[in-house]
Amino acid sequence: MKFFIDTANFEHIKVAHQWGMIDGVTTNPSLVAKEKDVSFHERLKEIATLVEGSVSGEVIAIDAEGMIKEGLELSAIAPNITVKLPMTPAGLTACRYFANKGIKTNVTLIFSANQALLAARAGATYVSPFIGRLDDIGQDGAALIEEIATIFALHNIDTQIIAASIRHPQHIQAAALAGAHIATTPFHVLEQLFKHPLTDKGIDAFLADWEKRQVK
Ligand code: E4P
Repeated sequence: MKFFIDTANFEHIKVAHQWGMIDGVTTNPSLVAKEKDVSFHERLKEIATLVEGSVSGEVIAIDAEGMIKEGLELSAIAPNITVKLPMTPAGLTACRYFANKGIKTNVTLIFSANQALLAARAGATYVSPFIGRLDDIGQDGAALIEEIATIFALHNIDTQIIAASIRHPQHIQAAALAGAHIATTPFHVLEQLFKHPLTDKGIDAFLADWEKRQVK
């Protein structure tokens, strides 16, 4: 499973990029709205220049014609832009349009295996099931990833599954075990993934022993 970072915050993206394990970035209108003093297109350009992999920019339109117009503008920003589309009939019409043009798409707001199958059949490059939001309403987000992964494997579907709406490190492990290809992860959860008390304790012990060494 690969890691994307789920943010439009350029400072966070720069830090995570330096860690060397980020393969892409996802944004959404809520994440972009948190960013001050920069336009959506400028921010996508900055991100897509820094990060080589897929950078998802989401359309705001709710009709297919509007989504296609916005998506074409987004995909003109950089070759690694992925057009993010909502899981609606109009979103899938736009998805098929972009698939036929060879433009990558990420169909978002997936909450059922059937929605993922529909998006895959409309040519989606990625589908984004939201596991945290399902857990919030008492459903099993990780189980959805497993269902989608099973269906895609059974039917030789090469659409990639991005586990989205990640809230904590346990979601990462569960998504990896369930067969997600990618987990798009908020910065604070990426930071948490590094931590283990025995790692810190081990470093302290090594350094203390080093200080006590007998130099001959
Ligand atoms: C996915 O691409 C979305 O940007 C994101 O994961 C949504 O997460 P949330 O439920 O924390 O808003």
